[in-house]
Amino acid sequence: MKAVMRRFWDMLSDGRPRVIRRLIMSWIWTILFVTCVGVVLILMNNLSEKSKLTRDTDTVDTVTAVEADSRLCPLVPPNLKGRLKIEKAASTWRELETRYDNVKEGGVYSPNECQSRHKVAIIIPYRDREHHLRVFLNHYHPLLQRQQIQYAIYVIDLAPGSMFNRAMLLNIGFTEASRIDDYGCYIFHDVDFMAEDDRNIYTCSDTEPRHMGVSLDIHKYKLLYPQYFGGTSAMTKEQFMLVNGFSNKFFGWGGEDDDMYYRIKQNKMSISRIESSIARYTMLSHKPDMEMNKDRWSMVKEVKKRWRVDGLNSLQYKVLSINKYKLYTHIKVQINQKEIMKVSATCIAVHVILNTDSTTKYKPTSGPNGHILFT
Ligand code: BGC
Repeated sequence: MKAVMRRFWDMLSDGRPRVIRRLIMSWIWTILFVTCVGVVLILMNNLSEKSKLTRDTDTVDTVTAVEADSRLCPLVPPNLKGRLKIEKAASTWRELETRYDNVKEGGVYSPNECQSRHKVAIIIPYRDREHHLRVFLNHYHPLLQRQQIQYAIYVIDLAPGSMFNRAMLLNIGFTEASRIDDYGCYIFHDVDFMAEDDRNIYTCSDTEPRHMGVSLDIHKYKLLYPQYFGGTSAMTKEQFMLVNGFSNKFFGWGGEDDDMYYRIKQNKMSISRIESSIARYTMLSHKPDMEMNKDRWSMVKEVKKRWRVDGLNSLQYKVLSINKYKLYTHIKVQINQKEIMKVSATCIAVHVILNTDSTTKYKPTSGPNGHILFT
């Protein structure tokens, strides 16, 4: 810089008086100084604008997040009652529809006061239990609403012509409900199971399938056996798909829930249960209307070689109608027992051929009440 200025001074020396040269030089210095100060000021201004912008955006983001969060329903619903009185008398359809006029067509509800943390499909396997259904709806609409759950109720009704198959109706319910909407949690629920306490929150656990029907009045409020997974259970979409849903092969009464227990174990998950003093249920009485499946324990023993090929991926059924009634979605379906047993048997044969180690390591032993335990 010094050398440049000296050369410039020499150029000016050419015949000009010293005072003029000094004057020109001081102008140049002034111009340079003003330019530099200007540049510095502009840069500083830019920087402060930028940081202000960032700060503003940060503030907007934080405000949006706080707003969204404050819309979320509280972790503990504020209006729970605790222990409930079970109303076993059934109201008429007209009374129910008037009482729960906040429910949308198809038995769909979401809380107005806040954004629910849970979107749940309640799936009910059903045949000829109209009285129980009315008791169920009268009990569960207000319960689920107090729990601030976003939910829809699906009743999967089996047409005459086939033996009852609870598990298959649950698979169908899962499939059809997922076609209608996107749910994170599915609760598989018998129509005659009445929750006695609304602190038993109707949601899934992200880490493991949940058995909800822990203590039942007819079992003297004791868990029947450690592997019991009956009555009411909750699984996320991912958990249910991982185990390939329920088996389709359990016609008649019993076994399908035990089979599900071992599907869950096969997939290295455990089962969660909340305290039995809260997960209490009353079972509505009814005449025995189903033939017991006497082969159920020998079928459950085969779960290891069967679960991959018998379930959601081998499900066959015909939807006869879908009606979105005021308090529930009614799905009438038809199944063909002969076809189903045939398909599953073929698939098992293929699976056994492809998986030579599939029969090893399973050692059934006898558990309480003659139930088979697997080690
Ligand atoms: C059946 C299950 C049933 C349980 C409780 C078992 O013998 O296999 O399906 O849930 O008894 O009634």
